[in-house]
Amino acid sequence: WETFVEDIRAIETLKRERNAVILAHNYQTPEIFHCVSDIRGDSLALAREAQNTDADVIVMAGVHFMAETAKMLNPHSTVLIPDLRAGCSLADSITGADVRLLRQRYPGVPVVTYVNTSAEVKAESDICCTSGNAKRVVESLGTDRVIMIPDEYLARNIEAETGIKMITWAGHCEVHERFTPGEIERMRADHPGLVVLAHPECPPEVVAVSDFSGSTAMMDDYVRDHKGGRILLVTECSMSDNLAVRYPQTEFIRPCNMCPHMKRITLANIRQSLENMTHEVTLDPEMASRGRRAVERMLAI
Ligand code: 13P
Ligand code: SF4
Repeated sequence: WETFVEDIRAIETLKRERNAVILAHNYQTPEIFHCVSDIRGDSLALAREAQNTDADVIVMAGVHFMAETAKMLNPHSTVLIPDLRAGCSLADSITGADVRLLRQRYPGVPVVTYVNTSAEVKAESDICCTSGNAKRVVESLGTDRVIMIPDEYLARNIEAETGIKMITWAGHCEVHERFTPGEIERMRADHPGLVVLAHPECPPEVVAVSDFSGSTAMMDDYVRDHKGGRILLVTECSMSDNLAVRYPQTEFIRPCNMCPHMKRITLANIRQSLENMTHEVTLDPEMASRGRRAVERMLAI
């Protein structure tokens, strides 16, 4: 704890000296999320805030694709990620060349790309989406078919909600793909009255046995609006830890899967990042401008 306090104090001083802000995703551990971050939220909120901040330096306490999105939307800020190995199994599942092949195979079908992708993949896309706005984005296109990449389960879950046919890619989140319907049913049997909230990166069979499905921010809103009760968040571990701090009247049942990429970010490497201005995220300007179009088109919805 003493080391934590020392790091927290040092980070606060460095933030002032550098005119820096720390953006933290909901999956960051509580000492990062609650003690040093300035802006907290889901992927959509972090993208919006990255666009609006006038800080000179943005430290992304999240994963690499989030830092790239922040750089795309705020090219004049220096964007830092404390550990370059903070990746994502979805972002790693697809390349720009794969998207070009899909377009050749399905000419004229719009490409909706989850933000959990590299800048190179966003640059090949018509529009981006997050788990918080995927339904609205897909419906805004007015087509009966879309190519929705790279998360196969998100695409299938949105297909079930909208009736719009999805051409999918076999990408999966290594955290959410591990949940099973059997596990949820066992939890319900062990914890009477349990309300189950599942992230849409979960397999459709898991969403089907849940009471609600939505992004991490939508889970937060649900817990806020339904004070108390017993809740199972079918998502990354730290989400329940962070909400438990804010909603002590809610009982969180907490079997969870951990994202090893999110967990690469620590107080110690956030401090080093601000001390040494590492690791700066840079983008090819032409690619960034094509990717920005797809992200801004999403933000305009
Ligand atoms: P959201 O916070 O946008 O729901 O995304 C979850 C996620 O897995 C981010 O990596
Ligand atoms: Fe990627 Fe899944 Fe980790 Fe999110 S939780 S960063 S989607 S691997």
